[in-house]
Amino acid sequence: MRLRTAALAALLLCGVSGCERVMRGMYEQPRYDPGERSALFPDGRATRPPPPGSVANAIGDLAATSSGRRGQAEVAEREAASAAGAPPPLTRALLRRGQERYGIYCLPCHSPVGDGDGPIVRRGFPRPPSYHEQRLREAPDRHFFDVITQGRGIMYSYADRVTPEDRWAIVAYIRALQLSQHAPIAALPPALQEKLAAMPPEPPAAREPGR
Ligand code: HEC
Repeated sequence: MRLRTAALAALLLCGVSGCERVMRGMYEQPRYDPGERSALFPDGRATRPPPPGSVANAIGDLAATSSGRRGQAEVAEREAASAAGAPPPLTRALLRRGQERYGIYCLPCHSPVGDGDGPIVRRGFPRPPSYHEQRLREAPDRHFFDVITQGRGIMYSYADRVTPEDRWAIVAYIRALQLSQHAPIAALPPALQEKLAAMPPEPPAAREPGR
């Protein structure tokens, strides 16, 4: 009994006098602290810059010290500010970018032509509405932007994967898809109009979109 008390006292003393430091050198670890110098990288910084296109979860002084809990409001604010901005001007490059991003993030469910018959749907995922239905053809650009940002029904948000700029690019591409299925003949170049007029009428529903 006396021996145990003595051992306990010794242990306590040890803690007080800081001999824990001697026993386990936890305080001097071979690691870099934030902002420290390093000869390993050409720019001399141990903290590496995030790869281009990284999406911030939290920003500001406290973000790194709070597991990202602090600073999320700032990110939301920045996101809202860019979302409130006007859509970028329509260019071929924007459409190309939209086509590419659409192919990555939307096509799996909404299909290459946007009728909602994508490969994931063919494997059993609930079918989204077709972009070619009247309601969605008449919906403003902002509606598509907001659906990407916030998700809708069982469709989850793509805000963490698709930047606001890319959302506008996708919206532009969806508009092109819609036009592709409902272009008035008068809007086609004259050469195409002539070709169309010379073609025999095709029975509808023979096409199989999404393949
Ligand atoms: C995993 C499948 C899936 C992916 C990927 C997906 N969606 Fe959807 N989407 C759905 C489903 C399902 C619905 C129907 C949601 C509901 O009403 O419950 C939907 C609905 C929509 C609607 C219709 C909203 C309305 O007013 O009814 C739009 C617009 C839309 N998605 C755009 C997109 C865009 C743009 C992308 C790519 C960034 C995308 N979706 C990616 C499954 C998906």
